[in-house]
Amino acid sequence: MAERVLPLQVGQRIGPVEVGPIAHGGHCVSRWDGMVVFVRHAIPGEQVRVEITGVQARFARGDAVEVVDASPLRRPAPCPVAAACGGCDFQHLPVAASRELKREVVAGLLQHQAGIAFTGAVESADRDGFGWRTRMRYHRDDQGRLGLRAHRSNEVVPLPPQGCLIADQRIARPGVLPGEEPVIAVAAASGAVMAERAALPATLTERLGQRRFEVAADGFWQSHAAAPRLLTDAVLAALQPVAGEWAFDLFCGVGLFAAALVDAGCQVWGIEGSAQAVRYARRNVPEARFWAGDVAATLRRMPARADLVVLDPPRSGAGKAVLAGLASRRPRALAYVSCDPASLARDLATAAGLGYRTVQLRAFDLYGTTHHVECLALLVPAGV
Ligand SMILES: C[S@@+](CC[C@H](N)C(=O)[O-])C[C@H]1O[C@@H](n2cnc3c(N)ncnc32)[C@H](O)[C@@H]1O
Repeated sequence: MAERVLPLQVGQRIGPVEVGPIAHGGHCVSRWDGMVVFVRHAIPGEQVRVEITGVQARFARGDAVEVVDASPLRRPAPCPVAAACGGCDFQHLPVAASRELKREVVAGLLQHQAGIAFTGAVESADRDGFGWRTRMRYHRDDQGRLGLRAHRSNEVVPLPPQGCLIADQRIARPGVLPGEEPVIAVAAASGAVMAERAALPATLTERLGQRRFEVAADGFWQSHAAAPRLLTDAVLAALQPVAGEWAFDLFCGVGLFAAALVDAGCQVWGIEGSAQAVRYARRNVPEARFWAGDVAATLRRMPARADLVVLDPPRSGAGKAVLAGLASRRPRALAYVSCDPASLARDLATAAGLGYRTVQLRAFDLYGTTHHVECLALLVPAGV
C-alpha cells in the first residue's frame, strides 16, 4: 500500500493559524489544511504562525512562534527561555487568565466524560504563580550547563541568569555544580539542598503544624510549598471526619493525609507503592498502619470496613479495580485528590457506575505558569 503523504512536516512553519479553544495538556485546538494542530504558547482567538514540532497520522503539534493578532490577555513571558523550556507553557498569560483557561479545561473534561458540572473557579495557592516549586531536577547540556528539558525532548535548555522563576528562591539558581549527573534540588523545611543524587542527604524533614515528616531527598512530597496545608485542610473540610471512624489513605506517600486523619481522631490504614516511602510513613505517623504495594492488589488485605477514604493517585488515576474495591466497602465519603483532570473525569464516571456520586468539586492552581491543575472531588453513596 502506498504510504500516505502527511500534509505537514516537523520544522515547517504554517499560518497565520486561527487559534481555537484550549484543550487538556495546555495546547489550543486549531486547524490547518484539514488537519488538527495542537498549538502551544497560544491563546484562543489569536492568529499565530506555528512551527510544527510533531506529526501523527491524525493530528500535528506545534508552537506559536509569531503572534500576528494577539489576544488582549497576552503578556511578554517573564522568563526569557519560556518559549524553549518544557517547564512552563502558560508564562504568556497573567495568572488570572491562566486560571480561567484551566477552569475551562476542568469543566469541559468533567462535563464531557462524567456529565458533572464544575461551576467553581480555580482557587489560587500563591500570589503570582512564581517561586512555588520546592522540588526541581536540573539536567546538564553538552557544555555542562544546568537547565531544564525542552518540551517532549531530551534537549536541555540552560537556565537564564535569573534562574528558574517558578522554583523556590533557595533552589532557583544552582550555579555551577561539578559532575555529570542531574542535580536534584529540594527546598525542605529542614533546609535546601542541591546536589547529584549520590551526594544528597538521605532524608529531609518537612513540617505541617505539629507534625514532622521525614522524606527521601528524591522521594515524593507535594511540590507546591502551600500544597500540604491547602490540600489537607480541603480534604478534612470535605470529609468531615468524626473521631473513631475508620479511614484509608491510598497512594499515601510518606503519610501526609494519614496524619491529618489520625489527628482528627480516625483509625487509619495506608497503602503506597514505594517501599521506601512506606518506611518513612511508619515513622511519620506511627498511629496508622501502612502497607507497601500496588493499591489495587493490596486493597484485598485491608479491613472490610472503611468509613472514609482519601485517594491521591498518580496522573494515570485510580482505575476501576481500586474504585470497585472501595465501593464494595460502602464508605460514607471519598476524597479524590487528582493532578490530572482527564483521569479524574474518567474515574468519577466509573465511580458513578459503582453507586458513588460527586457532590463537591474544587480546583487549585498548584502549578502556576503551567497548564497543570490539582482537583479535589468529594464522592458519597448515590441516594444519600
Ligand atoms: C500524587 S502522589 C501522592 C502521595 C501522598 N498522598 C502525598 O500527598 O504526599 C502518588 C503516590 O502514589 C504512589 N503510587 C503510584 N502508583 C501506585 C500504585 N499502583 N500503587 C500504590 N502506590 C502507587 C507513588 O509512589 C506516590 O507516592
